[in-house]
Amino acid sequence: MTFVPYDRPVRSAFIGLGRIYDLNMRGYVGNPDVEVVALVDPSPQRRAQRQADWPDAAAFGSAAELAASGVEVDAAEVLLPIPLHADGVVEMLGYGWHVNMQKPMCNDLLDAQRMLDAAKAGDRILRVMENYLFYEPLRRLKAVAESGAIGEVCGYHVKMVGTGRGGWDVPWSSFEWQMEQMKRGRGIMVFDDGWHKLATALWLFGPVREVRAWIGNLAVGPGIDLDTPSTLIWEHENGVRGVWDNTIAMDMYLRSDYYTNDERWEITGSKGFARVNRVTGRGVQQPSLEIYSEGEMRSYHALDDDWASSFRDSGRHWLRWLRTGDGPLMWSAQEAVDVLRFALAAYASNASGGVGVQPRQVTE
Ligand SMILES: NC(=O)c1ccc[n+]([C@@H]2O[C@H](COP(=O)([O-])OP(=O)(O)OC[C@H]3O[C@@H](n4cnc5c(N)ncnc54)[C@H](O)[C@@H]3O)[C@@H](O)[C@H]2O)c1
Repeated sequence: MTFVPYDRPVRSAFIGLGRIYDLNMRGYVGNPDVEVVALVDPSPQRRAQRQADWPDAAAFGSAAELAASGVEVDAAEVLLPIPLHADGVVEMLGYGWHVNMQKPMCNDLLDAQRMLDAAKAGDRILRVMENYLFYEPLRRLKAVAESGAIGEVCGYHVKMVGTGRGGWDVPWSSFEWQMEQMKRGRGIMVFDDGWHKLATALWLFGPVREVRAWIGNLAVGPGIDLDTPSTLIWEHENGVRGVWDNTIAMDMYLRSDYYTNDERWEITGSKGFARVNRVTGRGVQQPSLEIYSEGEMRSYHALDDDWASSFRDSGRHWLRWLRTGDGPLMWSAQEAVDVLRFALAAYASNASGGVGVQPRQVTE
């Protein structure tokens, strides 16, 4: 890779202006590292709505139109529906744009390799953003685990309850492609939301040796199934074991400014524990991070625990990276493939009745 950092603001285009644009754009607002030059979405309503944020940006119905327009683009912020990720990203890398794409990267290793190959062929950077790695309470949790403040890590638990009531509006069109994903065996709970959980696991404790999974199926409407309740357990190469369970509580109201995800991360150490009480929603109204050790509970009351801030900081990290080339991408495309392998190992385990599967040995 012969990447040379930009000595001027990066000219960037948003590709896809749907629900998650509302949070992703926060890394771009007031950021001297970037100039937003283009907005792309086939929906004229979305283009008109988002143009208000960037009056000077040119708007297009497709990336191909933008590429043919003469507007110069250095990098694309790709916010496409998951089924369009692989083809869309390969296309955009082919235009010579660096790409910051959304998770999940894609559905299988073949598509992942296509994207990696396209980035290599065009000598472009491909990043798969992972906003959870920028959520301050989780960053603190990692620091606490590494500091020894709770002793040796014995294991950890991640919990996710999707609730049926509360939160922001999600347009039906956003669910349609999720249902398409579900029919391909890549559901919204284990694959889409789970991507974050598996990514944080790798980030916290490193490579995973073995995964066992029991993935459920819940019919919530005619032709609409969810991949829950599901439980995944795994062992890292360092011996630490993790477990993630997800469930749906259809009638539960959850206060949230975003999706209705009630989440927790709890690490048990030989001397105490550390727990992040919430991430996306505002379920447990305690301080977002609590640490117990030696008979005392320490509570963090002033962390930036607004989930949207994790998008802002992930976006800023990307744009700063393009200006400096410094430090890890969080995540590079190759690191994202490790997350994909982790998920694929869980599917393989589930298909074989829950036997242990090594992510390293997954082939497709
Ligand atoms: N990081 C997170 O926590 C998080 C949360 C939600 C969604 N996401 C991810 O963000 C991505 C988008 O999700 P969303 O909820 O915003 O979806 P969405 O359906 O609300 O928005 C997608 C937008 O893409 C547009 N689009 C469709 N085809 C296009 C094309 N060929 N070119 C340009 N635009 C096109 C649609 O018109 C729509 O406006 C997905 O990958 C999703 O997994 C990530």
